[in-house]
Amino acid sequence: MPIVPTQEILQRAFRDRYGVAAINIVNDLTLAAVLAAAEELRAPLIVQTSVKTVKMEGAEVLFGMWQEMAGRVSVPVALHLDHCPDREVISSCLALGWNSVLFDASKLSVEENKRQCIEVVAEARRYGAAVEGEIEGIKGVEDGIGSDEAGTIQALDVALDFVRSTGIDCFAPAIGNAHGMYRTTPHLDNQRVSDIVSAMPVPIALHGGTGMRPEQFSDLIARGCAKVNISTALKIEFMKSGYDYMTAHPGEYDPPALFRAQRAAVIEMARAHIEMFGSAGKAW
Ligand code: 13P
Repeated sequence: MPIVPTQEILQRAFRDRYGVAAINIVNDLTLAAVLAAAEELRAPLIVQTSVKTVKMEGAEVLFGMWQEMAGRVSVPVALHLDHCPDREVISSCLALGWNSVLFDASKLSVEENKRQCIEVVAEARRYGAAVEGEIEGIKGVEDGIGSDEAGTIQALDVALDFVRSTGIDCFAPAIGNAHGMYRTTPHLDNQRVSDIVSAMPVPIALHGGTGMRPEQFSDLIARGCAKVNISTALKIEFMKSGYDYMTAHPGEYDPPALFRAQRAAVIEMARAHIEMFGSAGKAW
């Protein structure tokens, strides 16, 4: 069975210090493309869906597509719900079979976030699913969720207490990262990842992957960022390859030819990231 618990994918990556690409897909074509890249490179993969994509496709349709396509690959893959503040969406995705969820209560107080996150962890455990938590909003708006204002950075002991008392499987700290495009190379607080991991061995989720430099990825992965999120890069490749194809083939209205070009571009993008994160050949 190629669909495995997210916990297993994360624990192995964390132990052996490689990064698993966690890529946000937007439809059937992009789902098939990222799975094809993982299969080709023998890499474990986390497929992410934003709440916007879940609502656009419909959770049942999306999950049906996932089950059918993931069932055909031979590498370990898991389905993750990205940034979700809505407990009802979390409950319906867990009940359908998502392998993990990011409960994004970063807009709430840490105490209230903690209280609710404990409930989400208990709910997820009933399905054998994992939970990612965060206490600081990651800068930037991702599919309608988030803010362009940088959130308050919590003290190390507050972050550690959150991880310990909620029992989450993966923690997403703010380290100067942001969703969307960076205007310049971001200045990241890599030491914060080491401070958290050395006090508590929890796999770290690195958000805002698009636009980070290869050496930033490798340093952060070595410090414990086992899950590396990529969303904007897929959107860019998907849209740009479509635009380029139409521009190069004026007057041609052959959807499968357009889809082939888009699929090739998304596979190439996923392949480049998987290789950069060191997870190629890590399938078991
Ligand atoms: P990017 O959109 O910057 O790639 O970030 C992805 C992400 O962190 C999804 O949660």
